[in-house]
Amino acid sequence: MKKTKLTESAVWKKLDRQSQKIKEDSLRALFERNPDRVKDFSLQSQGIYFDYSKQLIDKETMGLLLELAREQKVKERMDAMFAGKKINSTENRAVLHMALRAPANAEYLVDGKNVMPEVHQVLSKMTAFAEKVRNGQWLGYSGKPIKNIVNIGIGGSDLGPVMAYEALKHYAPSDMVFRFISNIDGSDFAEATKDLDPEETLFIVASKTFTTLETMTNAQTARKWFLEKARNESSVAKHFVAVSTNTAEVQKFGIDPENMFGFWDWVGGRYSMTSSIGLSTMIAIGSELYGEMLKGFHLIDEHFRNAPFEQNIPLIMGLLNIWNNNFLDAHTQAILPYDNYLKRFPAYLQQLTMESNGKHVTLDGETVNYQTGTIYWGEPGTNGQHSFYQLIHQGTRLIPCDFIGFKQSLNPLKPHHDYLIANMIAQGEALAFGKTLEEVIGEGIEESLAQHKVFEGNRPSSTFFLEKLTPENLGKLIALYEHSVFVQGAVWNINPFDQMGVELGKVLAQKIIPELMNKSTQINHDASTNALIELFRQ
Ligand code: F6P
Repeated sequence: MKKTKLTESAVWKKLDRQSQKIKEDSLRALFERNPDRVKDFSLQSQGIYFDYSKQLIDKETMGLLLELAREQKVKERMDAMFAGKKINSTENRAVLHMALRAPANAEYLVDGKNVMPEVHQVLSKMTAFAEKVRNGQWLGYSGKPIKNIVNIGIGGSDLGPVMAYEALKHYAPSDMVFRFISNIDGSDFAEATKDLDPEETLFIVASKTFTTLETMTNAQTARKWFLEKARNESSVAKHFVAVSTNTAEVQKFGIDPENMFGFWDWVGGRYSMTSSIGLSTMIAIGSELYGEMLKGFHLIDEHFRNAPFEQNIPLIMGLLNIWNNNFLDAHTQAILPYDNYLKRFPAYLQQLTMESNGKHVTLDGETVNYQTGTIYWGEPGTNGQHSFYQLIHQGTRLIPCDFIGFKQSLNPLKPHHDYLIANMIAQGEALAFGKTLEEVIGEGIEESLAQHKVFEGNRPSSTFFLEKLTPENLGKLIALYEHSVFVQGAVWNINPFDQMGVELGKVLAQKIIPELMNKSTQINHDASTNALIELFRQ
């Protein structure tokens, strides 16, 4: 494979050599040699305690990673992003999701124009609407208040809303129902609506482009489902609102632009949950708490922008990811929230990280000769412990873990929270330090079994500890990962803000749809694809 500037750079080569050294070291030894290790490799900022001392690093490693960040011009790229430069070069767009959560007096420029007045206009419109719905003042066609909110969207127009609702439902009114329809599978629609009364249901059709097949199909089905009861087309206006950047398509669908909440092309789909895509979240938690969530995002945006590299949490997160992926050959990253409300957080992060950094061509159009996009996956603890953690502890692969926990529970049922957090802390400890053969034998285990009970340890993890799962803290957590993805993309010299890889499948599906629906259509794919189509037709 062609060499690239990145892998030929002196710092990359030094990191390579450093990784050989670290592979021969161990977390046990690193902790023994440096009693201050946790002080050296933890940060406390914005109410977040970030402990990365159980990563396979030493001071030299961190020094080299910071040098790599400087060499790859992470700061310059970050400044260009905040300045509204069109860093999404393949789509010629600015990347300014940070403007969505900035205070009204901030300034974010796109093509020389400050976008903040528009951002806050939309926020005010969302606030007025959300509060009307919450107060029972927004009435359906038969005069009943709205009780059910159904968000129809997919990808960034679904994962943010559903994750935020699940994360924050403790703060939502218990007499309202929130549902999320994304899949083109009709079962998703059928199950989400089967117990709802159209008279009390509001659909939010959320789509940046307003052309996405899944969302448009589900929205048309929703319209039919609604009109079966409401009968009168004029009732649609009270039960359908749109969230989009595409006014023309929204109008074509029959939604009054009055009932449309806009956003802008400088907001990527997977970075859009603080745009009007967050309308369902605002209805669920109210505009005040929604404002607190925005504040959480903003605090991390500012931290990322201003904190020196050595104290910059998202920067360190991004660099650790590079280290694990490119130098320790750990190609996946487990996200393990010890809070059941965060059960959709790993799924949300999958789109954020993998749609962003799943690229094999650099900004200069060169094919990379290094791994990019880490595979993110996960489940809440403690459930995961009784399922896949076995492989993390004793399998042959290195799987760095992010543990996320809160000191206070939203449901302080004794003794659950103590047990939950004890488990989280124990997992990090077990992964790092394991249990040696001598220790196992010392416990009186017979020799034939002892090998099986050995935990090699030396398995890296980071722990995020926050006070409580509040809207503000949720905002902070998401922004940390957003910016860490940016750092990874900058080091890899790729564009984290386009998603061209999703197109080919969409185009081919459009070709196959009529082939499935009309049995007489000629098919000329490969033999495997033809056979699948034939099978379905039968
Ligand atoms: O196909 C991928 C994608 O474009 C995502 O990037 C996006 O979040 C999702 O589809 C939904 O797009 P839209 O909001 O335009 O319906």
